[in-house]
Amino acid sequence: MKKIRIAIDGPAGAGKSTIAKLAAEKLQYTYVDTGAMYRALTYKSLQQKKNLADEQALLELLMSSCIELEPSPAGQQVYLDGQNVSEAIRMPEVTANVSEVAAHAAVRKEMVDRQMKLAESGGVLMDGRDIGTHVIPDAELKLFMSASADERARRRFEDNKSRGIHIPVEELKQDILRRDKLDSEREASPLIQAEDAIFLDTTTLTIEDVVEEIVNLVKAKE
Ligand code: C5P
Repeated sequence: MKKIRIAIDGPAGAGKSTIAKLAAEKLQYTYVDTGAMYRALTYKSLQQKKNLADEQALLELLMSSCIELEPSPAGQQVYLDGQNVSEAIRMPEVTANVSEVAAHAAVRKEMVDRQMKLAESGGVLMDGRDIGTHVIPDAELKLFMSASADERARRRFEDNKSRGIHIPVEELKQDILRRDKLDSEREASPLIQAEDAIFLDTTTLTIEDVVEEIVNLVKAKE
């Protein structure tokens, strides 16, 4: 049995990370959440009060940053220069600014290089926006996951609530639509479905349904 590389892309709140994490557990694959890397850089940029429009300054900051993703039973842990920032990078201020940071071509190039290395050994399930198109264009399995904006906002609301964050659903929906627009319209590797990706609309599916479908798709390829 050969462990394959799985690329999962899609817009914010489509359920990618929840589903990818569970599928990775079942398959005994490594789950890699690439959004966490852009979030870690955004967090550091905000801490250091960088101008988020300054591509060169952000690239320099990234080049001097060590971002490590460690699998753990509690979900992927994110370390920035040795410090655990797994919670800090989910804060609303980071979420509101991450798409601006991720839009810079130079930043993306360096992130993609790092992500390609993480995917090299196989047995990975990587989620993001450009995994099937740029990071692992030859992935054995590519999925593009989406759901209606209302459903995605509802899920984010529940997710926030479980972490003690209270933001109205309508506000979350507007943020999701704004990020979709920024991610889809940016020049550098925009969010688009790879031609050979399988489309999964998760609006009315349960998490278990989607996980099972992915596990079956992987088993058929292994
Ligand atoms: O997946 P998550 O919502 O945490 O990603 C945060 C942001 O990082 C996205 O809205 C997008 O702007 C950016 N991102 C990206 N490419 C990836 C992963 C995330 O541009 N591969």
